Amino acid sequence: MSQDFFKIKNDLPVLGVGLGLRRELESETFANADKIDWLEIVPENYMDVGGRARARLEAALKQFPVVTHGVNLSIGSTDELNKDYLKSLKGLLDFIDAPWFSDHLCFTSFGGAYMHDLLPLPQTKEAVRHIAERIKRVQDYIERPLILENISYYMELPHAEISEAQFLGEVLEKADCGLLLDVNNVYVNSINLNFDPYKYLAAIPLDRTVQMHVAGHSHGDEVIIDTHGAPVIEPVFDLLTYVLERVPVKAVMLERDQNYPPFEDILAELEEIRSIAANTQPALTLVSQSNTQLKSPADAVLVD
Ligand SMILES: [Fe+2]
Repeated sequence: MSQDFFKIKNDLPVLGVGLGLRRELESETFANADKIDWLEIVPENYMDVGGRARARLEAALKQFPVVTHGVNLSIGSTDELNKDYLKSLKGLLDFIDAPWFSDHLCFTSFGGAYMHDLLPLPQTKEAVRHIAERIKRVQDYIERPLILENISYYMELPHAEISEAQFLGEVLEKADCGLLLDVNNVYVNSINLNFDPYKYLAAIPLDRTVQMHVAGHSHGDEVIIDTHGAPVIEPVFDLLTYVLERVPVKAVMLERDQNYPPFEDILAELEEIRSIAANTQPALTLVSQSNTQLKSPADAVLVD
């Protein structure tokens, strides 16, 4: 990946408005392919597996572009990069022909043990150098652009030399890679850690955004929690609008991972995203116009 990021971004396809592929929603997702432009999958569920998961993936590929959003790259860990993981991920990305792949700016492993949590990193210059070098090695091996997501976290981090916004910006710039901007995570952190989300957006290299996540959150006792288990709230749609008014992005995606509502509610949230895109960045909606002609519910492929 020796090319300049902005040249790479410019050449990436516009995928439009998408949804996460979840086992619980697969029938409705496939039956509404004319209303969903693309799907995001969690690669760990589809790497080196056959059976039902493989059948679901193959059914998805008949109707949608598919991009991966991983959880176990552990880009910030001090462990060696996991070569077996990278090899399996590369195999999957080649199979689905993904234009890019994503993971989180976090660590999920330490001493070879995986923690099933997206853990925040020390916001230091040393960590910036460490992570940027690993991003370059991963991109060189995978031969596709890696985009990293800003995570939610719930306490001020000790030993921080720079703010989270500076940390994110410096990692992206030093590695010369793209951003998966989750505006719900920005909102959740802004409430829990008491900052202005618009100042945060103004402080990060917004033009590195390739893909966006929109999601809902839940209310805990003392903090709000990034559960992806509730409707998207208006201030999060407002942050989406703010970003789409300012920088071109290739894809926006709704994350809903639990407490599933009737599928019509999910389609209504996708419509809301689409109408914001129509008003701010119409290129994102052109995909769906051609989809409506190309796909119809009769084309739906259901996995039993
Ligand atoms: Fe996200």
